[in-house]
Amino acid sequence: MPTIALGVTGGIGAYKAVEVARGLQKAGHEVVVVMTEAARHFVGPLTFEAITRHPVITDQFEPGANADIAHIQLATDAALLLVAPATANCLGKMANGIADDFLSSLYLATRAPVVVAPAMNTYMWEHVAVRRNLELLRARGVHVVEPGEGFLACGWMGKGRLAEPDAIVAAVLDTLRRGASLAGRRLLVTAGPTFEDIDPVRYVGNRSSGRMGFAVAEEAAARGAEVTVVAGPVSVEPPAGVGLVRVRSAVEMRDAVMARAKGQDAVVMAAAVADYMPERATEKIPKEAGPLTLVLRRTPDILEELGRERAEGRLPGTLLVGFAAETSEVVARAREKRRRKQVDLIVANDVSRSDAGFEVDANAVVLVAEDGEQELGLAPKREIARGIVDRIECMLGRRKE
Ligand code: CTP
Repeated sequence: MPTIALGVTGGIGAYKAVEVARGLQKAGHEVVVVMTEAARHFVGPLTFEAITRHPVITDQFEPGANADIAHIQLATDAALLLVAPATANCLGKMANGIADDFLSSLYLATRAPVVVAPAMNTYMWEHVAVRRNLELLRARGVHVVEPGEGFLACGWMGKGRLAEPDAIVAAVLDTLRRGASLAGRRLLVTAGPTFEDIDPVRYVGNRSSGRMGFAVAEEAAARGAEVTVVAGPVSVEPPAGVGLVRVRSAVEMRDAVMARAKGQDAVVMAAAVADYMPERATEKIPKEAGPLTLVLRRTPDILEELGRERAEGRLPGTLLVGFAAETSEVVARAREKRRRKQVDLIVANDVSRSDAGFEVDANAVVLVAEDGEQELGLAPKREIARGIVDRIECMLGRRKE
């Protein structure tokens, strides 16, 4: 059974981590506990050692600790890192890449999914610094088990109490289940804008950052899928662990996608492909006194071509997902687009909102499929991606039966 690394930090809820360790063991997992120095003021390492039957890691610099292979290996061996309780200090270190003890170093060194269960005083929980750190962690794919409300140890009423051990164990099991849920699946995801050249120095482009497509790719890869990303010109970093093909124009993107579509379990067209392109001048166009008229021709519609290929039997079994950027009648237009392009799912985006969509890290979408609509409210793109991939996974599962 997989090993879970359980980080325990210095909060009054540390005693509940004992119950969490037990719950994980009951579910069949090995648990290795890592305690911060502050945590040891609340619970003794012996308690965890007796329960987990593994030595508790307390100090990065303890003589002998670095010669112990099992100890060093935890970063690669752990199937998941859980931090419960996670103090404001620990979340701050994780969000900012500070690695000054074993637990914060382990967070940077592991590729395993990470779940945190914060616990702190209500005012600390509401502080903008803590909110920002949590936002950063969420955007990076860290799962947050929200604290509960009630009487806090400090005598206050409010939010900040460590979530119940059962809820924390359930979140860990759910995250582990997702971790392998797309194993053996292949996904092709497009991301970013396309640039259509006017001449050697000028182009027509759009404001897509590539974040949404990258988030979908990252989420699918985290669930074990083999992911290829075809990205237009983007400045954000692509996710680790995916194959990357860089293109510039709609025509290049079309060629890259069509060459790789066959054999994919799903193709997700998250790119904002230009609809029109100018005739490219070979020389730089000199400016003149009057206005300049550009004649724009239609680009190939990649999603429509994929839909047609599948309808004609050349892409059997490939799930097709498109995005729709709309400014009004979002769902109605998305429904129409889904039918016209003969695809399974349209992720409809209201781009008239300033708090979501292009160039920001949040989004709010409606998933439009044949059997109905599902709304995913305003959230970081990484969380929206989770909802989209959940839906894709569900549709792929249905297809398999
Ligand atoms: N798309 C594509 N090729 C294009 C244009 C768009 O594959 N040349 C894909 C996008 O990646 C997206 C979907 O089609 O998944 C919807 O794009 P959008 O531009 O919103 O829709 P259109 O069908 O072009 O309709 P309109 O611009 O009229 O809203």
